[in-house]
Amino acid sequence: MKQLSNHLKLITIKTFLSAFVFTLLPVSAEEVNVYSHRHYESDDKLFKEFTKNTGIKVNIVKASADALIERIKAEGKQSPADILITADAGRLVRAQDAGLLQTASSPSLNKQVPKHMRDKDGHWYGFTVRSRVLIYSKERINPSQLSTYEDLADPKWKGKLLARSSSNIYNQSLLASIIANNGKQSAMKWAAAVRKNMARPPEGSDRDQMRAVAAGIGDVAIANTYYVGLLVNSSNPKDQEVAKKVGVFFPNQKGRGAHINISGGGIVKWSKNKANAVKLLEFLTGPEAQEQFPNATYEFPLEINSTNSELLQSWGKFKADPLSLSELGKLNSEAVKIFALSNWK
Ligand SMILES: [Fe+2]
Repeated sequence: MKQLSNHLKLITIKTFLSAFVFTLLPVSAEEVNVYSHRHYESDDKLFKEFTKNTGIKVNIVKASADALIERIKAEGKQSPADILITADAGRLVRAQDAGLLQTASSPSLNKQVPKHMRDKDGHWYGFTVRSRVLIYSKERINPSQLSTYEDLADPKWKGKLLARSSSNIYNQSLLASIIANNGKQSAMKWAAAVRKNMARPPEGSDRDQMRAVAAGIGDVAIANTYYVGLLVNSSNPKDQEVAKKVGVFFPNQKGRGAHINISGGGIVKWSKNKANAVKLLEFLTGPEAQEQFPNATYEFPLEINSTNSELLQSWGKFKADPLSLSELGKLNSEAVKIFALSNWK
């Protein structure tokens, strides 16, 4: 009799447990909602691989980082966003400062992402690296004439430099790194002198600066490395020609190293799928994705010099500025002010 009562108890517990598990399951629906500034098809492919590996579905909303930040602000607690992905640390710090990100950490994130490429408290983590370098005319410039960002302020470059508008975050982050390394006064003088040395007022995209180098409008442009990859692999023969005419030079190799930035992601404050969001960040910073980025988007992996991409290898190994990328965000408004004063529109 006692045995039977024990047996019944067990059944009751089992029924209770299965009802409990059943009610829990729908709540923890396996998905993760990504708000991304990146617009690469290869990212979609990576997300599919992640789903295949984990069973977690990835839903993506694509828009500019600023638009996504505004959207999360407006949605507040109701926001379905789990991860915000941007193409520079400056925008992640902006989202962090607006209180839109929460901290997260895990042993693999801490191991896979170098310290200066993530927020110290885990509000965001980088997963690819880009360097803002000097792109020069192979016809008219010998790379031995190039050295540092600071050297671009020398009057010898008068009428020879090309750069896009200062409203662009890549230039703001470069100037922020110059403020961090050389101080405000020096950064002010640099921006004004570089502006004076330009071949034309700032206009167009990074790719347009390279096209202008190839067209002979100027000799040296400031641009991000992966745009060279996009020109090399362009379906437009004219852009392939542009790529053949330009060389990549990593500045400040005898000093602090070339300026770098990241694409990265942070977990949104109101995320309903935080554990899945952490898993996605672990995947993007992990070996499988890291091996694919250089060949797909021509960005550097987190370990910048360990890539099997022939194109990236052809640019040579380089030393990167070890400045904590959080500084780029902190000094962003200072950089914007200096650009306005220096007439670099
Ligand atoms: Fe870009």
